Amino acid sequence: MAGIDYSQLIPNNVDLSSDRRLQRALEKWQPAYLDWWKDMGPEGWQAKDVYLRTAVSTEPGGWAMFDMVRMPDYRWGIFLADKVEDRKIGFGDHMGEPVWQTIPGEYRNILSRIIVTQADTEPASVEQQRYLGATAPSLYDMRNLFQVNVEEGRHLWAMVYLLHGYFGRDGREEAEELLARRSGDEDKPRILDAFNQLCPDWLTFFCFTTFTDRDGKYQLAALAESGFDPLSRTCRFMLTEEAHHLFVGQMGVERVLRRTIELMKQDPNEDVTNLGGIPFDIIQKYVNYWFSYSIDLFGSEVSSNAADFFAAGIKGRYREDKYEEHTALGQIKQVTKLVDDRLTVEEIPLRNAMNEVLRDDYVADCVKVVEKWNRALSKLDTDLRIKLPSNRFHRRQGIYATHSYDIDGNPISAEAFEAHRDEWLPTAADREYVASLMKPVYEPGKMANWIAAPKKGINGQETQFEYVRV
Ligand SMILES: [Fe+2]
Ligand SMILES: [Fe+2]
Repeated sequence: MAGIDYSQLIPNNVDLSSDRRLQRALEKWQPAYLDWWKDMGPEGWQAKDVYLRTAVSTEPGGWAMFDMVRMPDYRWGIFLADKVEDRKIGFGDHMGEPVWQTIPGEYRNILSRIIVTQADTEPASVEQQRYLGATAPSLYDMRNLFQVNVEEGRHLWAMVYLLHGYFGRDGREEAEELLARRSGDEDKPRILDAFNQLCPDWLTFFCFTTFTDRDGKYQLAALAESGFDPLSRTCRFMLTEEAHHLFVGQMGVERVLRRTIELMKQDPNEDVTNLGGIPFDIIQKYVNYWFSYSIDLFGSEVSSNAADFFAAGIKGRYREDKYEEHTALGQIKQVTKLVDDRLTVEEIPLRNAMNEVLRDDYVADCVKVVEKWNRALSKLDTDLRIKLPSNRFHRRQGIYATHSYDIDGNPISAEAFEAHRDEWLPTAADREYVASLMKPVYEPGKMANWIAAPKKGINGQETQFEYVRV
């Protein structure tokens, strides 16, 4: 089961050839996908050989193979983690019942909405990142970008398989729409806000993969708990691929920080702009921006939808099995709200606070990432540290979106926020400066001046390896 059949037009481990109708439907979608990839995928690099990994099995360990591949020839396919025999629903009102192999009629709409929303983020990020090859700080980084891009394309395949396979004609229409919407487009934008933001430079890319791809990890983990077994299995395998995206982001930011500190030591006034580096405070502002956009993706702190998804057994908590109790009934979660201009702690029924429960796990993970960056900084003999803003800062979704808060989460007036905006969030001048540094470096082993070299190459290769054949 774990082995993937690459002899088929669409590589898969779901015995696609036994379902002629589904196979034909997906084979019809495939050329449309390839057209989308050629139009909206990495601009200017489609004909080059790239050192990419491709899934060859869904067994943990040794699941991937590395080879020089031209991106349009990448073998996108449908890979589900192995079936767990006798798996039971692990939470909510159907707890203990066998998992579903087809969709219960009463949950068809909410499942479709969840899958479409997740699916939409995958092509969106490819669109956001499509011009970055032109300014890659090294071939190593360019290869990592393209790896992330082809795997987001594969995640789209993962979700489209579910839409085609389980939602009939509605699913086929949704799959077409996924190729029709465009990140940032006024008329047909992507569904979620963070996926309509620009990703014009590599500092943005590294913050995006640190914070926004990490949101993906938590959404997928919550769906991996799902009572709809094909969704669970698909998400479990997607998580295997996702780990690399988070690594790319975290190490990318760390290398920028490292280089900034090195350059500060070389200038008598510690001004790295004289030496073509990225000032520390600009890095902090990019972190503030992408952290706040990414925590928006978890939805409102108090949500009846979240309660319904949990009750239905469709979306669980992060690692549901670490909890002792799985109905979440008769329990509360404390949520801080603004009441009459004062922050007040309120008790919310736990099921209604499930978005916040998942966000808490996400934020704890982000705190660890920042701690790692700060450990790296402390070894470089500097007192500078990166700080995560408050959950209430700069929100456009949820209960904190209707008021302004400072970086520490204290309520402030909208005027006070505007007065501090340039200290907290990237300004047009910051973005222009960062953009001015984005000059490509295509010589194997060489790095742009604003970023430190990675400590190791990919898959045991040297950092000097020609990861993309320019
Ligand atoms: Fe993804
Ligand atoms: Fe990702």
